[in-house]
Amino acid sequence: MNILAIETSCDETSIAFVKATGGLRLGAKGPRFEISKNLVASQINIHRPWGGVVPMLAKREHLKNLPRIWKRIKTTIGPIDKIAVTVGPGLEPALWPGIEFAKALSKQLKKPLMGANHLEGHLYSFLESKNLAANTLDLKNIFPATALIVSGGHTILLAMDSLAKYKKLGETRDDAAGEAFDKVAKMMGLPYPGGPEIEKLARKGNPNAIQFPRPMLYTANNPDASQGRGPDHKRRGNYEFSFSGLKTAVLYYIRDHKKFSKADVAASFQEAVTDVLVKKTFRATREFGARSIILAGGVAMNKALSKKFDRECKKLEMHFFVPPRELLTDNAAMIGIAAYMNSLRRKTYRLVAQANLNLK
Ligand code: KG4
Ligand code: ZN
Repeated sequence: MNILAIETSCDETSIAFVKATGGLRLGAKGPRFEISKNLVASQINIHRPWGGVVPMLAKREHLKNLPRIWKRIKTTIGPIDKIAVTVGPGLEPALWPGIEFAKALSKQLKKPLMGANHLEGHLYSFLESKNLAANTLDLKNIFPATALIVSGGHTILLAMDSLAKYKKLGETRDDAAGEAFDKVAKMMGLPYPGGPEIEKLARKGNPNAIQFPRPMLYTANNPDASQGRGPDHKRRGNYEFSFSGLKTAVLYYIRDHKKFSKADVAASFQEAVTDVLVKKTFRATREFGARSIILAGGVAMNKALSKKFDRECKKLEMHFFVPPRELLTDNAAMIGIAAYMNSLRRKTYRLVAQANLNLK
């Protein structure tokens, strides 16, 4: 199936052409993808002066970029079987231009249109991880798996029994991990998006300089609780996350210290976030007897985070899957992948913007 995929849920306008084969069956006959084009027009420079994404500016840019990218891509691709477009989650004013453009294209080219879930895009892009796409692994040996999706809008932990069956274990109650990176960066006067800036600065700092709280994991007076033995174990026994308290702790630290090392704050903050993400994921992994870990979403660009996962997986002799970097941040190829997986699963989405769509 040759899929033309469109993504406009936030501040990247993207169109991709993906050739998909294979079925949901395990083994060599599993799904395979050839990403022949994946064009992304980033709007970072437009939003940067505002310190974050401005929905109406994103809409205006998508309207401008979509026809431009389509013009560039259309002469370079093979025959299209289906068109796929992100219907959510995302910023509603940003989602609509993609959906309307896809509808018009579907009518003009007389090709069927499928809606896709942005989060399924992040999730299923793990199928393109180097160690999996290289065909060296049999899919039947990788499940059950624990999947962590960490982006600017979401922090979700999933237990996957198979390619088609997964269950949400928990998600963030307030800020997403990426959002916390962006907000802390802003407090320190770093430009948007803050994640890469914090990572850069953290390389020069000491991750143990400041003991920031590990929300929903353990408290400073009760470090043992991370092993599930502490008195408030029950409260933390779930798989939910919370990053807004950590963000506030950084804010107070900056307010209360006239002189401090920005690099140490960045490194210590990053250490706290990655600590929580890694520990919770491995706790779920132990509880569900998972054989693999999947890490996806924009925050997975963070090397401190992926290295921690990789190290721990090696120690436990588990598979670790992380999509290639160009599929981690928002792009349309992952939407083509998700749309194909959903056509195999016979799952459909309504073709309207669904800002709060989640994973079920
Ligand atoms: O998946 P994504 O591109 O868009 C959403 O669906 O939200 O994720 C963007 C998020 C932003 O919050 C950005 O700061 C964060 O991913 N991010 C990072 C890094 N690169 C991007 N966070 C930490 N370290 C990074 N290197
Ligand atoms: Zn995303």
